[in-house]
Amino acid sequence: MNKAAATLEGKLPQLKTPLPGPEAQRVVKLDARYISPSYTRSYPLVARRGRGAIVEDVDGNRFLDFAAGIAVCVTGHCHPEVVQAIEQQARELLHISATDFYQENAVTLAEKLQAITPGDFPKRVFYSNSGTEAIEAALKLARFATGRKNFIAFFGCFHGRTYGSLSLTSSKAVQREGFGPFLPGVFHAPYAYPYRCPLGVPPERCAPACLDYLENTVLRTLSPPQDTAAIVVEPIQGEGGYVVPPDEFLQGLERICRQHGILLVVDEVQSGMGRTGRWWAGEHAGITPDILCVAKGIASGLPLGVTIARADLMRWPPGAHASTFGGNPVAVAAALATIRLIEEQLKDNARRLGDYLLKRLADWPARHKLVGEVRGRGLMIGVELVRDKKTRERAPAERNAVIQAAFERGLLLLGCGPNTVRLAPPLIIDQEQADCALGLLEDALTQVEKGA
Ligand SMILES: Cc1ncc(COP(=O)(O)O)c(C=O)c1O
Repeated sequence: MNKAAATLEGKLPQLKTPLPGPEAQRVVKLDARYISPSYTRSYPLVARRGRGAIVEDVDGNRFLDFAAGIAVCVTGHCHPEVVQAIEQQARELLHISATDFYQENAVTLAEKLQAITPGDFPKRVFYSNSGTEAIEAALKLARFATGRKNFIAFFGCFHGRTYGSLSLTSSKAVQREGFGPFLPGVFHAPYAYPYRCPLGVPPERCAPACLDYLENTVLRTLSPPQDTAAIVVEPIQGEGGYVVPPDEFLQGLERICRQHGILLVVDEVQSGMGRTGRWWAGEHAGITPDILCVAKGIASGLPLGVTIARADLMRWPPGAHASTFGGNPVAVAAALATIRLIEEQLKDNARRLGDYLLKRLADWPARHKLVGEVRGRGLMIGVELVRDKKTRERAPAERNAVIQAAFERGLLLLGCGPNTVRLAPPLIIDQEQADCALGLLEDALTQVEKGA
């Protein structure tokens, strides 16, 4: 499966220097002088090149990548077919601005997105450059189309860091601290998180309780339906901790939206593009968004955001919303190649390898004193660490230590939420790489448990 890695780099990690190596140290020092300190680096990986699921750093150390550039590199690093599409397009046209001129491949991609997104109705596509911009477009469109002003988002959600999306985002205080006031008319409701239900009810009651709170408290006392433009939801909370809600929660949100003429905006920025074994995570619950937001994996690493809406909603006039770079031809060419690969093989591979990993991880809560819960769909898997299985006290320092220990063993991971390890590899991994990653993660976990 992972041919590029197999032929060019080998497909397993190999460390040659103590970490960070001398070249990495040099870059990290310069970075500290010149780059915004708002970035969150868990460990000093200084990447030089990547092939498949392998990243090589500036000292020649090779890492197995289970972070994929924050769930972006779905086709692996530098997939030959994606690179070829980029090269070919780069020789033809780098930029024209699809907002002021017509561009054929932007139409081709929009037509393809129409076909692979839920809902058998005409849709329209708005192009931007990132996840946060895809959300901004959705917010503006929802207000414009409904004439209503309010939005409902969920505690723990992450939708981006520009002012509109940040007004929804509530996954970490540091993302908001010092930046208010935010967009008015945004209200937050509890998200169904059965392992630690925000309403304190047992797991099987969590989804109905959260839906009841939304319907009978938020919509009755804070944001009346006739003022509510949209409910904005991640079908799996990403940055918030890879929280997988029961299907009935998402289905309930859709029912509430339909009942009150509220738009259902589904943020598939992290969970979409085949990561969960289907095109969209919301498909597992069978929901149909009015507006769907996509970014991250869509172009295998080139910047592209897409907001796909029911055609009858996207009726704003020329000039109402646009972006100079949105739908850049090279990014669109990468997206078309990415979609072809996902369709032909990677969606199935994500499902197969995801099932395999989840099966192998199933007994970790019983075998490991720090593992509280393992959850996920496809190759979007969270391992939540706790200090105490009964009280479920979160283990953030231990989580960070596990991620650091994994790095020292050649495995790239990221955290999500305060105390969860996220597994978000490229969708091209094979079983040997899955086994290798679990071996290294378990080794790191055991080391931290010994010290815990
Ligand atoms: C669900 C979700 N929405 C939106 C965003 C924002 O995307 P970007 O960082 O491209 O602006 C992210 C980024 O992590 C995300 O996970």
